[in-house]
Amino acid sequence: MSILKIYQYPDTVLRKKTQKITTFDNDLTQVVDDMVETMYDAPGVGLAAPQVGKSIRLIVVDTTEDKEGDKEHMVLINPEIIESEGSQIDEEGCLSVPELSANVKRYQKITVCFQDIQGNSHELSTEDRFAVILQHEIDHLNGILFIDHLSPLKRSMYKKKVKKWLEKK
Ligand code: NI
Repeated sequence: MSILKIYQYPDTVLRKKTQKITTFDNDLTQVVDDMVETMYDAPGVGLAAPQVGKSIRLIVVDTTEDKEGDKEHMVLINPEIIESEGSQIDEEGCLSVPELSANVKRYQKITVCFQDIQGNSHELSTEDRFAVILQHEIDHLNGILFIDHLSPLKRSMYKKKVKKWLEKK
C-alpha cells in the first residue's frame, strides 16, 4: 500500500469527467487499498478517486463508530443517488479545499445504489451526517466541490485567498 498525492483546488483533475468502473480486478483492489490508506493518513472521513488524480467513479468512506476499536470503512463503486428527501445544513471541509470549512445545504436522507469491490450491486439508505459525507464524495465524481454550493461571495473570497497562496509559492 502507498499514500497517494491529494490534488487540491484549483487543479483541473478535480473537474474532469469520471469513467464508470467495469473491471473488478487486482488493479482496482490496489487503488482502493491506497485510497483507504491515504484517507486515514490525511486524516479524512471520505475520499473520492478524482482527489488522488484518478478519473474513475470510486469513493471510500470511514464508517468507524467505536473510536477505541479498529478503523472501519466502506468502498462504493459507481455510486448513484436514486432517492432523496428533506434537507439539512451542516459544516463541511475537504482535503482538496484546504483552510476552509463552511455550511452546506444537503438532502437529509438519501438512497444510494453502488457496487462493491467484487462488482456486486447494493442499495443503501442513510441520513444525517453519513448522508452528507456520501453526497459530498459523490459530488467529487461529478467534478463538483463543496465550494460550488456556497454563495458567489464566499466562493470568490476563497478563490482570492488561493490565488494569493499560489503567488507566494
Ligand atoms: Ni471533498
